[in-house]
Amino acid sequence: MRIFSGIQPTGAKHFGNYSGGFRQYAATQEQGDAFFCVVDLHSITVDYDPADLRERTLDLAALLFATGLDPARSTVFVQSHVKAHAEAAWLLGAVTSYGQLGRMTQFKDKGDRQEFVSAGLFTYPILMAGDILLYNAQKVPIGDDQRQHLELARDIAERFNARFGETFVVPEGVYPEVGARVMDLQEPTKKMSTTGGTPQGTLLLLDPPDVLRKKVKSAVTDSGSEVRRGDDKPGVTNLIDILSVCTGETAGAIEVRYEAGGYGQFKSDVADAVVELLEPIQARYHELRSDPAELNRLLGIGADKAREASLPTLHAIYDRMGFVRPA
Ligand code: TYM
Repeated sequence: MRIFSGIQPTGAKHFGNYSGGFRQYAATQEQGDAFFCVVDLHSITVDYDPADLRERTLDLAALLFATGLDPARSTVFVQSHVKAHAEAAWLLGAVTSYGQLGRMTQFKDKGDRQEFVSAGLFTYPILMAGDILLYNAQKVPIGDDQRQHLELARDIAERFNARFGETFVVPEGVYPEVGARVMDLQEPTKKMSTTGGTPQGTLLLLDPPDVLRKKVKSAVTDSGSEVRRGDDKPGVTNLIDILSVCTGETAGAIEVRYEAGGYGQFKSDVADAVVELLEPIQARYHELRSDPAELNRLLGIGADKAREASLPTLHAIYDRMGFVRPA
């Protein structure tokens, strides 16, 4: 089975990325032939700093290995190293609906926050569809906020297959049962995000332990003091989910355990669990990040494997679409 996912290098990575992204990558690599891509081409669609992009690309590679990707098993690579991605994005534009792109909530949200809205922000989901379809991936581990983009990728695959002949596997999203949408700790009706959330409400994977503890302890909790999930309790529900992601315990078991207690002990346990999860990841990250030559070597191997895996699909796209191939 083929598995593919991507993650953007810019912006500090946070607990939401861990829950919907990193931990699912490490888990799914056990299930098949897995490709994980540092999507640097996606990162230029909003305002960014070239020097920052350069640093963050290696930061993210180190974090992918630190959270459990095994370079012997998974193909970890940088999107811009494999030219097929940019080419596929152009070609698939022919079977992507302008109207559908305009309905993407991420485009509307991010567009509203930018002074300059780039054409790239609008066409971004085509690039993402190409990422997935080039590898004929059956499974795409993602968080809930990428669901609409994945649906669009499926539509693009189906439209291409119908118009030009059976070419692509129609991919399926893989969402975690708990923690598919981790919320901001200060504004628990918004998703945790470095661009749209609050700094105090965002647990960064590389925050020092005392900062993580402080952020969890100052999380907004709802009225009443029962530790239970519910639409009337977005703050507590989010903390229960975070604890469940950290320890693997079910949300139900957590509710039962804290039934009698108040918020104090509960929050302090959530803080401990977050620190316990992230401390070893941070230690591995710093070790890996201190050896950029080794990271570049691993990314070089990944790019070779990704080129080899995607090239037949790229050729098939050109061929089916009627392009004369170079002799
Ligand atoms: P990105 O870089 O914004 O996020 C990486 C992963 O983290 C998940 N995520 C969350 N999960 C739960 N709760 C949250 N608050 C939260 N915030 C982020 C995202 O759902 C994602 O899985 N467009 C994609 C990158 C991409 C991609 C791809 C993904 C490009 N090509 C092909 C899959 C397949 C993005 O910007 O993710």
